Amino acid sequence: PRKIIIDTDPGQDDAVAILLALASPEDLEVLGITAVAGNIPLALTSLNARKICELAGRPDIRVFAGCDRPLKGELKTAEAVHGQSGLDGAELPEPAMPLQEMHGVDFLIETLRAEPEDTVTLCTLGPLTNVATAFTRAPDIVGRVREIVIMGGAYFEVGNWSPAAEFNILVDPQAADIVFRCGRPLTILPLDVTHKVLITPPRLGAIRALGTVGEVVHGWLDFYERFDLGKYGWEGGPLHDPCVIAYLLKPELFTGRHVNVEVETGSPLTMGMTVADWWGVTDREKNAQFMGGVDADGFFALLTERLGRL
Ligand code: BDR
Ligand code: CA
Repeated sequence: PRKIIIDTDPGQDDAVAILLALASPEDLEVLGITAVAGNIPLALTSLNARKICELAGRPDIRVFAGCDRPLKGELKTAEAVHGQSGLDGAELPEPAMPLQEMHGVDFLIETLRAEPEDTVTLCTLGPLTNVATAFTRAPDIVGRVREIVIMGGAYFEVGNWSPAAEFNILVDPQAADIVFRCGRPLTILPLDVTHKVLITPPRLGAIRALGTVGEVVHGWLDFYERFDLGKYGWEGGPLHDPCVIAYLLKPELFTGRHVNVEVETGSPLTMGMTVADWWGVTDREKNAQFMGGVDADGFFALLTERLGRL
């Protein structure tokens, strides 16, 4: 199996991504989960990550708390989408598994140094603060990363948290800029993809029918999609973060282009915007596989089948 570290701010859609990874041990070995402040403050993201591992029957997974605020400025949170707990919609018991004492950034650094070069993939489902901090503090680890698969940004779909920016990038544009320039292979799942992965009632019904885990996921997603349904009037809310894990499990579900992508860190108007040279009109270095298309039915078939294993 491919070795991954999940960096996350759960969040219902992060939670489904973590469940999808933990349901796929023959494909993915989760070395650890690093929590970051994003959708909700760090104390809650690190708590929620442990609740999710226990729901998946994996209290052995190590969960680390990372950075509690972006590199610059105040933390922006998204309780309007995820509720006060970050996982509103289904109650889970307080976790018995401990939070690891080591800081999440130290775990990233130590793991990348200890594992063979080019074997560890970073899966980022939240603001990029932990990864950028690790890269800045320990530049020797950057070249050891196999790939970074990122949910973040947008091109044709532009912004969901400002007119120009997607939430994960907007919360910490400076961190995103560091990661986007790191020189390792990047795969980006932007809103252009995730807005096509809609939780329609039949898809949600199929997940609910799976049993205990299905009921919990149903509760979460039923709560979570209210925000987007009210806002966009779509037939279902977009399931952002599981696209990262689905990409690792079945890359053929996604299409995109290898392009240059850079992050705006200066202009207040477009702060956090991801500018993708989709049409190749510059000679800037191509740094990312920027996805745009997805087989949504194939995605939900994979997700439902895997969640059914838990
Ligand atoms: C991203 O923002 C968060 O609210 C979601 O968990 C996802 O990672 C989508 O813009
Ligand atoms: Ca997230």
